[in-house]
Amino acid sequence: MTGRHQGGRSVDEITGSRRLRRMRKADWSRRLVRESALGPDDLIWPIFIMEGEDKAEQVGSMPGVERFTIDRAVLAAREAQGLGIPAVAIFANIPHERKDQTGSHALDADNIINRVTAAIKAEVPGIGVITDAALDPFTDHGHDGVLRDGIIVNDETVGIIARAAVLQADAGADIIAPSDMMDGRIGAIRDALDAAGHQDVAIMSYTAKFASACYGPYREAIGTGGLLKGDKKTYYVDPGNSDEAVREAEADLDEGADMLMVKPALPYLDVCYRLKSELRVPVFAYQVSGEYAMIEAAAANGWIDGEKVMMEKLVAFKRAGCDGILTYYAPRVARLLAG
Ligand code: PBG
Repeated sequence: MTGRHQGGRSVDEITGSRRLRRMRKADWSRRLVRESALGPDDLIWPIFIMEGEDKAEQVGSMPGVERFTIDRAVLAAREAQGLGIPAVAIFANIPHERKDQTGSHALDADNIINRVTAAIKAEVPGIGVITDAALDPFTDHGHDGVLRDGIIVNDETVGIIARAAVLQADAGADIIAPSDMMDGRIGAIRDALDAAGHQDVAIMSYTAKFASACYGPYREAIGTGGLLKGDKKTYYVDPGNSDEAVREAEADLDEGADMLMVKPALPYLDVCYRLKSELRVPVFAYQVSGEYAMIEAAAANGWIDGEKVMMEKLVAFKRAGCDGILTYYAPRVARLLAG
C-alpha cells in the first residue's frame, strides 16, 4: 500500500529513497552485502586427550564431544587438516595419581600434553598445535597455580608455567596459550622460550579470562570437576570489568603476546570488540564448554534449531572483530561450510 497513513506522511515521505529491505529481498543480494562471514580458516578446534589406546569417550556434559587417546587425536588432527581447520588446541585429562599440590607433572617432558603434541606434529605437520600452559590439569586442587595457605602463589606459579611452556615448545607446540592469568606470565614465558631457542614459537594469551560459571563441562572433560576448592576469582577477571580486560591486554602485548584471546566468548563480545578496535592485534574468542552445552541442551529439547544457533553465534564473533574462534563445533562447522 502506498498512499498516506493515519499520521499524515507516506512511507516514501518518511524514508526518502532509503529502503533497507531492498538488498534483503533475495538470497544472492543478502550474500552480496554480507559484511562478516565464517570460514574454516577462522576455526581452532579444542580437543580433549586421555591415556590409553585407540579409544574415544563421550564427554557427558558436552554431547557430540569426545576425549581421544593420542592415536585417535592424531586421526582427529588429520581430519581437521582435511577440513581446512588451521589449528587444534590440546587439553588433557591427567590421571589422578599424577596430580599434586604444585602440578609438578607439568614439568615432565613425557607428560601426555607433550606426547600428543609430538605425535601430531610428526604425523600431521601442516596443522598448528596450541598448548594450554596452566597448571589446573596437574594440580590436585584444580587451581591453575600453586596453592599455599589458601592463596594461589603468583611468582612461583609463573616460574613453573614458563618451564612447562618450554617443554611444550620442545615437543613441537607452535603456539603456547597460557590460561592461568598470573601477573607477568607472558614476559616470563617469552624470556624462557627465547632462552631455549624457541624464538618462533608464538604466544596466544588468554588475556581476558573471566571468572565465569561457563567452564563446568570442560572441568568434567579433563577430570577436574570435583576437585576445585573454592573458585578462581582471585586470578580471573571479574565479569563486571571491561577496562581491566583492556589493561590486561596492554600488559600482555608489552610482555610479548602475539595474539589475544577473550574467554568466554558470547557474554564478552563487547570485550572482543574493544580489544580489536583499540589495540588492533589478532583477537580470538573461546566459545567455552558451557556455551556449547547450553546450545546442545536446548537443541536436544527441541527448543531451538541447534545448527542455526551455532552458526549465528559463531558469525557474531567475526562481526565483533575476532580473527578466529576456538570452538568445539569446529569440525561440524567446517563440514557444514564445505557443503
Ligand atoms: C583452565 C582452563 C579453563 C578452560 C580451559 N583452560 C577453565 C577452568 O577450568 O577454569 C575452559 C574451557 C572451556 O570451558 O571450554 N586453565
